[in-house]
Amino acid sequence: VVGKEREELKLPLLLGVMGDPIIQSKSPSMHRAALQASGIEGTYVPLHVKGDRLEDAIKGVRALGFRGVNVTVPHKVEVMKYLDEVDEGARAIGAVNTIVNDGGVLKGYNTDGIGYIRSLKEQAAPDLAGKRVLVLGSGGAARGIVYALLQESPARVTVANRTAEKARELAAEWSHLGALKGCGMEEIGGLLPEIDILINTTSVGMYPHPGQTPLDEALLPSGIVVSDLIYNPLRTELLLQAERKGCTIHNGIGMFVYQGGYAFEYWTGMPAPVDAMRAAVLSSLV
Ligand code: ATR
Repeated sequence: VVGKEREELKLPLLLGVMGDPIIQSKSPSMHRAALQASGIEGTYVPLHVKGDRLEDAIKGVRALGFRGVNVTVPHKVEVMKYLDEVDEGARAIGAVNTIVNDGGVLKGYNTDGIGYIRSLKEQAAPDLAGKRVLVLGSGGAARGIVYALLQESPARVTVANRTAEKARELAAEWSHLGALKGCGMEEIGGLLPEIDILINTTSVGMYPHPGQTPLDEALLPSGIVVSDLIYNPLRTELLLQAERKGCTIHNGIGMFVYQGGYAFEYWTGMPAPVDAMRAAVLSSLV
């Protein structure tokens, strides 16, 4: 039973997150705090789903009347083929992190990129129009961010990747969306003096290797915006370098909160209580 019928029966809202592993996910704490702060009777559960049971699990979303689920590693790409509809942005990015169940019809969205951009604009760079942006990495996370970034009319976006070919392929795929270039990591020295915003999407500097950084501090220009998708640690080595250079810094916590915030808004039709969500994530980190 889903949708209106469920509401009339006064059944609690069912939400969850599917992944493998799932125990480490901060989404249950964050979304339970959101439900509570919004006065919604419901629950948000971690769902440990192995790859060979993904199709069954998605059928289970319909059968059990879940209003929605988040999808995390390693299912974001694979899950698309089991959905009834996939939003245009999620299709272009090639990954779904949010599913909405409308009366048994499942639609997939990707809120990672738009969540990240909302956070970046609120906390570090209010206007992205005309900005020159350098993105480090061209994996799944970078795709979501670059796609959302190109909707903001930046002057140009360069994607630099260890495997240069992957960055060039991404730039070719989305050349119709804006001024996008791809290159190898070894070229960033020449690019850094001419950028306004640097975004690290690689895992370099992430727990359990917090001392690592994707670039030499001497290359970092002062006064730019430096953003790192990592939120464990909250201050990566890259952000510490940036602070020493007088840059505006932005970490990955806001992206996590806002990707969840957009999902919450899709499921409930209510504005996400982002402050309560952020507080729940921060307290679950320690
Ligand atoms: P995610 O979904 O987090 O983006 P991913 O799709 O596996 O994960 O992509 C990881 C990205 O981080 C890639 O761009 C990867 O570069 P390669 O394409 O060359 O593998 C980059 N990356 C990971 N470890 C790195 C390292 N030690 N140095 C530089 N780049 C690294």
